[in-house]
Formats: sequence, structure tokens, C-alpha cells
Amino acid sequence: MLTIAISKGRIYEEALPLLEQTGITPTDDPKKSRKLILDTNREDVKLVIIRATDVPTFVEYGAADLGIAGKDVLLEHGAECLYEPLDLGISKCRLMTAMPRDVMAMPRRVRVATKYVKIARNYFASQGGQAEIIKLYGSMELAPLVGLADCIVDLVDTGNTLKANGLEPR
Ligand code: PRP
Repeated sequence: MLTIAISKGRIYEEALPLLEQTGITPTDDPKKSRKLILDTNREDVKLVIIRATDVPTFVEYGAADLGIAGKDVLLEHGAECLYEPLDLGISKCRLMTAMPRDVMAMPRRVRVATKYVKIARNYFASQGGQAEIIKLYGSMELAPLVGLADCIVDLVDTGNTLKANGLEPR
């Protein structure tokens, strides 16, 4: 039996055609079903549907044989004990720092809101800067608007969320 860990949403949608190319087709639809273990057309393959951030944990502990996860998740989790055999080239986006458009420069001691605490800490340390990291679980773009942080570290795809909130990449 091969168990593949994968998260719902964009990664699932974009991985589906690739799985189908290898002859694996789920027989349940995670959008319609509340089942967390999806059967496939192959008796020896099942999919477990979990939070993206939990994918490395399931693989690390052997609860799944392999997983499909974003590089952001692997970097933040610390994937030293995992092999990354293949970049599927799906769900592309960039992990960026961003600030309000009307703020000219980063303060010397910057306050950063992010869900990527480890990545942000490593990044600002590599720049030789001092950063206070504030952990958030979503809607990071709000933080500079309400004075919670000077900047954010977050995923950017189209850039629409940054633009709609008066932020720009720095
Ligand atoms: C992600 C990310 C940004 C947004 C970027 O959030 O955190 O907020 O998408 O996309 P854009 O550049 O195309 O606007 P998501 O909607 O996945 O929710 P999240 O806050 O739970 O991560």
C-alpha cells in the first residue's frame, strides 16, 4: 500500500492531472466529501487529505510514504530528514518581504509579521539586520495597515492582495 499525503486546494487541483498521468485517479472528491482518506482507482494507493503544514510531519513519522508540499512548508518545517526527489513545478509563487508603498525605508530594528517565522528569522539574520518576528496565521497584509508590524513575509502569486492593501515587495 502506498499512502500519499496532500493538502486540499490549489496543490491538490494542480497535482491531480500529474497523478492521473501516472495512472492514479482518486475515486472521491475532497470538495464534495468529508473523507480524509481518499480511495483511488488503484487498490494499493490511497491519498490522505491534510493541512499543507502537516504534510512533512506525516511523512517524517511514516504515516504517509510520500507527500506533496510547497517549498515554503518544507523550508519552514525544516525538512532535513526528508528527501525531496522531485519538483513538480506546480502552484508557483514567490515568498517575499513587503511594506506599505508610502514607507521609504525599513527601520533598523524591523518588526515583521508572518506565518513563516523560521524563514523570516533566517532571512533577516542573513541580511545582518535585527528583526522582531510576530507570528500570525493568516491575513498578514493587514499587519502593517494597523501598526502591528513594519513589514510582512508572505507568499505572493498575482500580487493583487499586496496591491489591494497598499503594499509593495521590498
Ligand atoms: C495567499 C497569501 C497571500 C495571497 C497572495 O493567501 O498568503 O495573502 O494568497 O496571492 P496573490 O498575490 O495572488 O494576491 P491565501 O489566500 O492562500 O490564504 P492564507 O492567508 O490562509 O495563506
